Amino acid sequence: MEDLAMYIIEILMNSIHASSHNIICNIEIDTHEDLLTIIVEDDGKGMEEQFLNNITNPFVTTRKTRKIGLGVSFLQSLCDQCNGKLVIKSRPNIGTITIATLPYSHWDIPPLGNIGEMMMLCIQANPDIEFMLYFKKDNINFLFDTKEIKKILDGVKINEPDILLWLKDYINQGIKGENQ
Ligand SMILES: Nc1ncnc2c1ncn2[C@@H]1O[C@H](COP(=O)(O)OP(=O)(O)OP(=O)(O)O)[C@@H](O)[C@H]1O
Ligand SMILES: [Mg+2]
Repeated sequence: MEDLAMYIIEILMNSIHASSHNIICNIEIDTHEDLLTIIVEDDGKGMEEQFLNNITNPFVTTRKTRKIGLGVSFLQSLCDQCNGKLVIKSRPNIGTITIATLPYSHWDIPPLGNIGEMMMLCIQANPDIEFMLYFKKDNINFLFDTKEIKKILDGVKINEPDILLWLKDYINQGIKGENQ
């Protein structure tokens, strides 16, 4: 996959498919420590321990349409390739947290990609899920929360096309530190 947003959206999709109500995505880049941390946390249906132990195996899936699942194994491969680490913790009926830590300057780390579009796609199809994005890179701190946006929208649907396009730009500017 050519950018990190594509890896992250796979993990977000898993949280969406797990019937989550709240999904938090945390992306932190610490250039000093040379550390990239990606965390996706949800309050979805979670997984049993035995299932979780095998989750990075592509043949482990609850998919009905094909017998392999690729989202988690793709991220695991990226972590393996870059001397990073993937940790997934989950509790049935409580939720799941996926934590990827990677050396930021490793040559195999793809570019960040379009994080605004990634969030837009998630919100577009799931306007009733609350998404939080927290982005931190050195002195840039950007927080995006659909609950806050919905308050401002005052009844206007968050997945109206104009609003979605605005959100995408707002997020992409925010993570560059342009909204501060
Ligand atoms: N956040 C989550 N909450 C609950 N179950 C999860 C979560 N993430 C993954 N799973 C479980 O792990 C399985 C494997 O996930 P993975 O993303 O690797 O494949 P998939 O989602 O089945 O297929 P694909 O990602 O290729 O569409 C899923 O089928 C699902 O049962
Ligand atoms: Mg998946």
